[in-house]
Amino acid sequence: MSERPYVTLSCAMSIDGYLDSAEPHRLAMSNAADLDRVDDVRALHDAIMVGASTVRRDNPRLLVRDAARRARRLASGRRESPAKVTVTASGDLAPDAAFFTTGEGTRIVYCPRDREAELRRRLGDRATVVGIGDDCVMMAALLDDLAGHRGVRSLMVEGGGTVLTQFLGADLVDELHLVIAPFFVGEARAPRVVGPAAFPWTASRRARLADTSQIGDVVLLRYALSDRFGMLDDQSADAGRVAAEIP
Ligand SMILES: NC(=O)c1ccc[n+]([C@@H]2O[C@H](COP(=O)([O-])OP(=O)(O)OC[C@H]3O[C@@H](n4cnc5c(N)ncnc54)[C@H](OP(=O)(O)O)[C@@H]3O)[C@@H](O)[C@H]2O)c1
Repeated sequence: MSERPYVTLSCAMSIDGYLDSAEPHRLAMSNAADLDRVDDVRALHDAIMVGASTVRRDNPRLLVRDAARRARRLASGRRESPAKVTVTASGDLAPDAAFFTTGEGTRIVYCPRDREAELRRRLGDRATVVGIGDDCVMMAALLDDLAGHRGVRSLMVEGGGTVLTQFLGADLVDELHLVIAPFFVGEARAPRVVGPAAFPWTASRRARLADTSQIGDVVLLRYALSDRFGMLDDQSADAGRVAAEIP
């Protein structure tokens, strides 16, 4: 069996722990410099994942934006942007969402088995639909499928909170990048960074804070959550070497 992909969780929250407001439009948490850093992290991974609510609400493209990073990926034999991954139980995903219509890479939709046929019909050749599980998709099974059948060795999970909670609660995360934006949201209906779960990191088993950095008005906390932590840093060095060879 293939080794599970290396998993990086990346998100930005308000000081009071919200991922967004409850207003109709998405609340920008980050700043331009931090978004560029996120683009750099995206470029390191084989695949990027968000939950179906984020696809519906934010309509993200999930592409590498910077041309030099795309060129480096191509030079190292990868596609310009990572594969895109989402998960849904309802099957409520619009085929004209930017997730499906932008970029050239692979798009994979995981859903419970009984939704598979209908979603395949609706999405056609816009995505590979994979049915796993009866009522919901277990994130461990999703990772096994990505590694065993899709050639994915690293996955960046960008949210939202429902998905982050499941990866963290199942102890499937190698590193966490948590950005704190300098404001409060303060709305009970807004999505929290995580919901309740039996997280492996508790007051008596503390996570390891590997790095902190200030990026303009936000702060980035980088936590090491497994003994594989840092595995992609080596790939980053490889990317640097390839970059140096590009004229
Ligand atoms: N600040 C940040 O860094 C950041 C990043 C990303 C997102 N966000 C925000 O987060 C909010 C969305 O977060 P969210 O927690 O509401 O939603 P989410 O995690 O994006 O998506 C949740 C949805 O994913 C599907 N899903 C999740 N787990 C599943 C499982 N095990 N099996 C099958 N389907 C599963 C379900 O889709 P169905 O409903 O289709 O069944 C579920 O409703 C948005 O406001 C977005 O803007 C913020």
